[in-house]
Amino acid sequence: MKTVYILNGPNLNLLGTREPEVYGKTTLAEIEQSCRDFGAKHGLEIQFLQSNHEGQLIDWIQDAGKKSQGILINPGAYTHTSIAIRDALSAVHVPVIEIHLSNIHRREQFRHRSYVSQVATGVICGLGPAGYVLGLQAFAGLVSSER
Ligand code: DQA
Repeated sequence: MKTVYILNGPNLNLLGTREPEVYGKTTLAEIEQSCRDFGAKHGLEIQFLQSNHEGQLIDWIQDAGKKSQGILINPGAYTHTSIAIRDALSAVHVPVIEIHLSNIHRREQFRHRSYVSQVATGVICGLGPAGYVLGLQAFAGLVSSER
């Protein structure tokens, strides 16, 4: 079975109550459930993880490089600051999809730069929780096109 790591960065554990006007009311547990439902239907094993700590995210990216066929990552604010996360993603040899609930390009200037986009296969932003399942759909295609 193909494995996809879905990694979530800082403050995403607060989804549902965190700035709902920006991020909506869906909780991370609900997003996880929709990813698991998609995975079950499409033969993908899902490792769904969240941390507020940069080093923990890097450890998981390295694990994903060894144990998975793809990474879907919402790095939260580390998107805009972390060269270390960018380098970790660049070091692993699996496709990476960067995801954001909000459209970072419509927001403050400091959110317009993403260190992660340079090393991502693709980027989904501004589509809310649906972006996660769209990312998985892309993986389903990417993974099968790797045969
Ligand atoms: C986010 C966008 C980031 O700018 C922000 O720091 C987040 C969430 C998003 O999903 O829209 O924490 O990654």
